[in-house]
Amino acid sequence: MSVPTFHNLSFYSDPSANVQRYKDLIKSFESIYHDTPDFISRSPGRVNLIGDHIDYSYFSALPMAIETDVIGAVKVLPGSNEVVLHNTDPAFARESFVLPAEGQVVEIDKSKFSWASYFKCGYIVAQKYIQEKGNHQQPFNGLLILFDGTVPTGGGLSSSAAFCVATTMAVLRANGVTQISKEDLTRITVVSEHYVGVNNGGMDQCASIYGERDKALLIQFQPKLEGQAFAFPVVKPNDMVFLITNSLVQANKKETAPVNYNLRAVEVAVAAEVLAKQFNLKLLQDSNLGTGQLRGFMETYYLQEKGVPLWNNDIDQGIIQLNGVLALLEKIFDSEEKKSGHFYTTENTAKVLGLSTEEFQEKFLSQFPVRYQYLKLYQRSKHVYSESLRVLETLKLLREQTDGARFLSEFGRLMNESQESLSSQFETSREELATLCQVALSHGSYGSRITGAGFGGSVVHLLTTDKVETVQRELREKYYKKQFPNITEEEIQAAMTVSKSGLGTCVLEKTDGSWDF
Ligand code: ATP
Ligand code: GLA
Repeated sequence: MSVPTFHNLSFYSDPSANVQRYKDLIKSFESIYHDTPDFISRSPGRVNLIGDHIDYSYFSALPMAIETDVIGAVKVLPGSNEVVLHNTDPAFARESFVLPAEGQVVEIDKSKFSWASYFKCGYIVAQKYIQEKGNHQQPFNGLLILFDGTVPTGGGLSSSAAFCVATTMAVLRANGVTQISKEDLTRITVVSEHYVGVNNGGMDQCASIYGERDKALLIQFQPKLEGQAFAFPVVKPNDMVFLITNSLVQANKKETAPVNYNLRAVEVAVAAEVLAKQFNLKLLQDSNLGTGQLRGFMETYYLQEKGVPLWNNDIDQGIIQLNGVLALLEKIFDSEEKKSGHFYTTENTAKVLGLSTEEFQEKFLSQFPVRYQYLKLYQRSKHVYSESLRVLETLKLLREQTDGARFLSEFGRLMNESQESLSSQFETSREELATLCQVALSHGSYGSRITGAGFGGSVVHLLTTDKVETVQRELREKYYKKQFPNITEEEIQAAMTVSKSGLGTCVLEKTDGSWDF
């Protein structure tokens, strides 16, 4: 399935609400560059409904693409080697760079961090794709681009993935790649942010690319990376909705990576190897770090110790197997000391793995540097396996076509358990996020949880339409006004959105030389 091209705004649920934004984009482009754009590249943000911090252990997640997005108007300049970037958001000042000589890949200056670094992430993967395909005889074209984004940055809704994917699509299209499959675009973009030093999984890019209107997505990593759209049950008499509330505490994933995001990725990779060591199992070294990963441990354990493969489509078997591995954790982390979170120093862990400290550092800490005193292996692996179990339990509810009322209460419970696990085992929550959950839950939310990386960002709530107003009113008074005494009504409204699922990445072209919006 190829990434689609449109000639109008019909992919939005309310095209007319977006007309002015696109007209403004073109007008600003023309006034900045004194030229007209050739096409527009677009990719949306996402909200993850359940299954956080398990994608980099290759377990499935259930997000949906949302209607807020990043759009970039692009003018292609054959014969030029300059790329110029402008943004409608004044926080992102003008940037430009010169393309390297043919055959070389764009470089990211690590000493000077800016939004252009994220642009270059998207650029590099497009460049490599074109070079790998071997059908690029010409030098890369110069570009003039104006971006406009409605996904809040650092808000847990994947503005970075939306921006990087829109960039990659723009670079591909500007250099002659008019067709690319969703599968290929996902495969190349999942690693894009690694170039700025964030060791993320692939959920965000996959959700942004595979998004469908009125559908959520099951993102699978194994046996292969793909997104499958599915619909939620119909709830009556009031429709089911997801309310997204931004805590307005910005989570800067890149800046805090050594103690937050990247550290979690190291902890789960080390946990997989420690678990494997107990059974003398050799794991496939296929994590982002080139080590074993937790799904890989589980798969190898079940095959070699029990003689059975991991569940495929048999959700009940998956539930049994995940419960089995959760019980196994209790046996392996068999002392209070190992469970305490104060045992796995670098030295202790290296010893458990039969490695020297230097070998341990080389294997786990050399690619994405992290800082820690102790690795919390028990807590992190418990979250990963229990969260994966919750994803399967949600799929079971969906597959059994559970009636609306039961779905609300069961899925709500799973969302709340996920929040509890993210808070106590994975430690990605914080007081502000907990307050958003508590207030909403005591006024009609069935389930409330952090969405995405956490450490700030947004909370997603499961509601019915009749409860939205009350929950918003309570959050206005008990969270936003208390937390930010000078906040305006407009800012509060922008922080709370009832999310509609939106279409994934697409390109917009003119019809007979003019824009049709
Ligand atoms: P999360 O991954 O937790 O959902 P996020 O993706 O919104 O959060 P970060 O991973 O911190 O946040 O990435 C934000 C960075 O992405 C910004 O600092 C900027 O460099 C880039 N970015 C995002 N949106 C835009 C945009 N509209 N224009 C330019 N750069 C953007
Ligand atoms: C960020 C990452 C994703 C995923 C989530 C947590 O959004 O980019 O790959 O790990 O955090 O689920």
